[in-house]
Amino acid sequence: MKNIKEFNYKILVESPGRINLIGEHIDYNGGNVLPAAIDKKIFLYFKKSLENSTCKVTSIHYNESITFELNKENKKINSDWKNYINGVVYYLKRSRGSQLDGFECVIDSNLPVGSGISSSSALVCGLIKGLNDLFELKISNHEMINISQKVEHNFIGVKGGFMDQFAIFFGEKDKIILLNCNSLKLEMINSKLSPYKFLLLNTNVNHTLSSSDYNKRVNECKSALKKAKNIDKRLTCLANASEGFIINNESLFTKNEFKRALYVSQENTRVLKSTKLIKALNFVEFGKLMYKSHEGLKNLYEVSCKELDFLVDHSKKYNYVLGSRMMGGGFGGCTINLIKEDNIKPYIKLVSEKYLNKFQKKLTPIGISIENGINTIKK
Ligand code: GLA
Repeated sequence: MKNIKEFNYKILVESPGRINLIGEHIDYNGGNVLPAAIDKKIFLYFKKSLENSTCKVTSIHYNESITFELNKENKKINSDWKNYINGVVYYLKRSRGSQLDGFECVIDSNLPVGSGISSSSALVCGLIKGLNDLFELKISNHEMINISQKVEHNFIGVKGGFMDQFAIFFGEKDKIILLNCNSLKLEMINSKLSPYKFLLLNTNVNHTLSSSDYNKRVNECKSALKKAKNIDKRLTCLANASEGFIINNESLFTKNEFKRALYVSQENTRVLKSTKLIKALNFVEFGKLMYKSHEGLKNLYEVSCKELDFLVDHSKKYNYVLGSRMMGGGFGGCTINLIKEDNIKPYIKLVSEKYLNKFQKKLTPIGISIENGINTIKK
């Protein structure tokens, strides 16, 4: 597609990526997380198809298209982008089949893929929202979040939580979301960080979340919760088990279950402490919790990698970086850094050189701002 204007679309959906300040791998454990939607987005252009039940979706990034008939079964194929399309259409047909019809969609993006800022959820949520608005399906945000999670679980094979989808649907400009993943209660918190800013540094180590490691952590936490419940029946999620409870009952768990559970409990506490510190504009203490979070993700949850560890360790040498940690599912992707605005440029230069020397890999800085969540523009 040379020019999107030629496509003559009816609606455009802007579906953002997300950051998470702290609270990693906590969503599927029922705890608290602090995500926000960002200015890096996937753009999905939609129009109804002229031939009624034919659907065509084109990805500009992959320079590929998928064409299918709406009344044919959408099967899981493999783990590339087309599978996300199949998954969305499969679930929408099951719940709103009679209201759907053929459509065309062109997808463009300035959201880096595989870097831990949730390009996959942005794509899935964008598609659901676009089809919802194009065919006036009247699906609520919570149901769209639910469908998106089902696509990721059953078509992509990642048994993820719903933090990303919540940030995408409920994000607001300059607001951080405190989301309790057990009660689904949301609180919007001001993100006045001046003179600091968040800077993402992409290791360019491409994490494939569908790799079994993410699901392994989910399962380890599930079995830890089951064992914890035998002692305390009131426990509804692992994040609600206190650190003392986990330590006192260490013998219940396998070595890995113990480490995962201890991390989850500590990280959940860090999120609540961080919320208070951010509200009090105490960024120095919040930065220290970011470092603690990374330590836990590295040593207890074991989802970091040497490139992420290097970036976090390196940042400790500079007082103007208040905190740094890996962000997202892990095994690659980005670090999130809280850094004094004036120092961002020279720091990027410095750390990129060090990173290149060490790993012979390019480091990609991603400057972000906190923006509104998903949005539909009608033409
Ligand atoms: C991925 C998942 C989220 C969450 C994070 C880790 O982004 O999609 O649900 O579990 O990893 O915090």
